[in-house]
Amino acid sequence: MAQAAHPLALPPGAAQDRSKPMPEADMSLLDAAREVRENAYAPYSKFKVGAAVRGASGTVYRGVNVENVAYPEGTCAEAGAIAAMVAAGETELIEVAVIADSPSPVPPCGGCRQKLAEFGRAHVPVTLATTAGARLDTTIGDLLPGRFDAHHMDNV
Ligand code: THU
Repeated sequence: MAQAAHPLALPPGAAQDRSKPMPEADMSLLDAAREVRENAYAPYSKFKVGAAVRGASGTVYRGVNVENVAYPEGTCAEAGAIAAMVAAGETELIEVAVIADSPSPVPPCGGCRQKLAEFGRAHVPVTLATTAGARLDTTIGDLLPGRFDAHHMDNV
């Protein structure tokens, strides 16, 4: 005889059921960034960064910083996540998270702000975090006011 379900049992597939991998659309972007940060390649700075972006489809793309012995050749975590998204065929991001072991939430560098603005609208939420649990919620527009965009080339 089939056993009666426990009165507090979650329905099958419920988001809170941690025994199953979370569907990508439900996964916290910050959790994805925290998880992928472990794979950062930062033997020179020792500063590991993880980033995750959510494409308009809901799919989560992850990136880490990848340094190089020729220092300027290194790439940021945000650039890696954006590259993964574009390689998968998406060109619009709707959410961003970045995490590092820094004293305060890690601010994306200037170049990464411009890269984020290429694929995300000004209102897109950006979560900046530390591994210790500090968190700063901002937007792409607030990170890069007055950005250079295609209209600035209208006279060409
Ligand atoms: N870095 C990132 O990956 N993202 C940021 O937002 C800030 C800086 C990386 C680049 C380099 O590998 C290391 O952090 C130190 O600058």
